[in-house]
Amino acid sequence: MTANPGELPGLKAALQAAWNRSDLIFGTVPDAYLLDRPIGLRHPFVFYVGHLPAFLWNQVGGGLLGLESETGDFDQLFERGIDPLTEQGAVDATIPCWPELEEVFAYRDRLRDWAMTESFGLVGDIDGDVLADHFRVHHLVLEHELMHHETLLYMLNEQPLERKQRGSLPPAKTGAAQGSAESIPVPAGTAGIGASFAAQPFGWDNEFPELEVHVDAFAIDSLPVTVEQWRAFLLDGGTRPHGWVEQDGTWFVRSMFELVPLDQAGGWPVQVSQAQAAAYCAWVGGRLPTEAELHRAAYGSPDEERREYPWGNETPRPEHGVFGFSSWSPEPVGSRPAGASAWGVQELVGNGWEWTSTPFRPLPGFEAWARTYSGYSADFFDDAHFVVFGGSWATDERLLRRSFRNWYQGHYPYVFSSFRVVR
Ligand code: AVJ
Ligand code: FE
Repeated sequence: MTANPGELPGLKAALQAAWNRSDLIFGTVPDAYLLDRPIGLRHPFVFYVGHLPAFLWNQVGGGLLGLESETGDFDQLFERGIDPLTEQGAVDATIPCWPELEEVFAYRDRLRDWAMTESFGLVGDIDGDVLADHFRVHHLVLEHELMHHETLLYMLNEQPLERKQRGSLPPAKTGAAQGSAESIPVPAGTAGIGASFAAQPFGWDNEFPELEVHVDAFAIDSLPVTVEQWRAFLLDGGTRPHGWVEQDGTWFVRSMFELVPLDQAGGWPVQVSQAQAAAYCAWVGGRLPTEAELHRAAYGSPDEERREYPWGNETPRPEHGVFGFSSWSPEPVGSRPAGASAWGVQELVGNGWEWTSTPFRPLPGFEAWARTYSGYSADFFDDAHFVVFGGSWATDERLLRRSFRNWYQGHYPYVFSSFRVVR
């Protein structure tokens, strides 16, 4: 099967929209501060300005098409980000001298131009290559950019308020939880993790093949744990979430462009590490869900039909959940009842990636099908990374497909995460 030209206009438009969003995000950091490195073990912002186009070139131009680079050293300099290896950090992220910003912007613009004017034609002419069919290599580049929007925002969230600008972006949506969590029983049955490669035009290597698993009966909270609930835990010996700061005797939750007083953020899902989340679950006599349990809670149903999304088969819309940048902060839990699953479990997709107790591992039959990026998942099958489920306000709709899998180190405190309790 050759690449399908019918898919082209949508794909090009999505790529352009992703670039626009990249520019919007980088635009919140004044140029003078693009060398800032708010997360010590990550590269400075400027690395990511170059990383996105370098990835585009390395995958499509150098990788699939085997073309000679005209952009030289930058392709290597910007090739790889950093996954801090340990809590203390075994990696030295210091690169003494970054190129001038203007050069990096020019590199980016040149490769974007090449992508639009040349790359689609060249890839479309290739016959019988898994990376060219359906323009999979372009999907790879597009989704890589979309994922980096979110991981960039983890850094931006750590950037001091006076070294970034909100511009016309909306204020945080605060308030109390809308409703309280009920424990919802889900009977024993099956869940389907992953997908079959032929069933969809694109998926990352870790999404294949499809795995049918048995799930024992369990009961799961209808809503994630909130800031307000964590406060009670804190008073009883729980640890402080990374984003909570004290100023002049008042506690705040740090959001992207403002400090929100704890009282006003009470309804937000609390953002903590996996270990902290597990400690809370134990405190209330429960535990974290597994990946399979969240799948069953989200996509399963009493009649054993499987849904594409928790709310059914309709493509995601804002009333279904907090995702796709409709907000630049979490929102109080319970604000999207239309997104509930067949069992009545709310907010499984959006408003925070939910921690699971499941180590990130390959599905049986895993194959690193993208030869230009064979380490995408395989480099992280180390049992130090755990599956997170669902999505956050900064997750693009495109990444909300049922088979998509995401993962972070359990102690990584920057993830726009949430969690809920299974009993
Ligand atoms: C899949 C979100 C864990 O950002 O660490 C981006 C995605 N990999 N560039 C990450 C990724 C390489 C990855 N996550
Ligand atoms: Fe990357």
